[in-house]
Amino acid sequence: MLRRNRRLRSSAAIRSLVRETIISPDDFLVPIFVVEGKGVKEEIASMPGYYRYSLDLLASEAKEIWSLGLKSVLLFVKVPEHLKDNSGKEALNPNGLMQRAIKTVKDAVPEMLVMTDVALDPYSKYGHDGIVSEGKIINDDSSAILAEMSLTHAIAGADFVAPSDMMDGRIFEIRTLLEDEGFHDTGIMSYSAKYASAFYGPFRDALDSAPVDLKDIPKDKQSYQMDFANRDEAIRETLMDIEEGADIVMVKPGLCYLDIVRDIRNVVDVPVAVYQVSGEYAMLKAAAEKGWLNHDAVMMEQITAIKRAGAHIIASYFAKDVVKLIS
Ligand code: PBG
Repeated sequence: MLRRNRRLRSSAAIRSLVRETIISPDDFLVPIFVVEGKGVKEEIASMPGYYRYSLDLLASEAKEIWSLGLKSVLLFVKVPEHLKDNSGKEALNPNGLMQRAIKTVKDAVPEMLVMTDVALDPYSKYGHDGIVSEGKIINDDSSAILAEMSLTHAIAGADFVAPSDMMDGRIFEIRTLLEDEGFHDTGIMSYSAKYASAFYGPFRDALDSAPVDLKDIPKDKQSYQMDFANRDEAIRETLMDIEEGADIVMVKPGLCYLDIVRDIRNVVDVPVAVYQVSGEYAMLKAAAEKGWLNHDAVMMEQITAIKRAGAHIIASYFAKDVVKLIS
């Protein structure tokens, strides 16, 4: 034999010398759940070790995240029930929870990159990402509200807005309004290939944002999020979002969709983000709790697989766990 592949695997030193994919704190975007109140840090039942924070504790959480070497956060808010409706009005409140959360993080850690979720579901009494009318999620009116919502985030100090709603044309609407209002430097990370996935369950527990079970209201998001049987469609969606002005594109969920990640990475010239979603986090936490999987080993294998598939950016609930492990 002239070639023996095992030579390059024969010691830890040679393995690290030839390793193709290295995980660092720079890879991560840390999702944070924010709730009204004071001194609140409540664990999410289906996401062990993950919490909702009130604004006072959000400030210290942001400092801790920064001290670990993590430099970007993605904010989500749990909106009080009485503020939910079918218009998205509260989403535009300049003094709403999201707008205050942005300021809180920026005050606590001015250098932190702040991204915000843009979709109506936490504000919707029906749990939908847009406005519901006659049994449908109406596209153009929803996009218009999402653009206005994005503007309030930019005004509050968000660096990037991250529309997660999958309405058609919303990236163009958002980019146009931000430009018109002078927010040339506010970026857009588009959830471009977002699938209608059952892996979002724990997230909807965290925000109490699941679609309601009411007559004439769609019980799922399949009329706007993508069919998980589709692959070519993901490329179409992503290229359109780039044309409309997205700075960063995203594939979501993560692990079951790594074929999509690679397809997209091969055809786009903008950074690709992957969202390792709540259900992926919950599965590993549950299996580890039972002693069935080695938590840290499986976590690193999954995160590495996501980056190897082509992710430049990984939004993950494991971000702090990973960084503590590798430091
Ligand atoms: C809201 C939104 C969702 C997630 C991110 N933004 C839920 C959904 O679309 O129903 C899911 C994130 C996760 O599961 O971790 N549009």
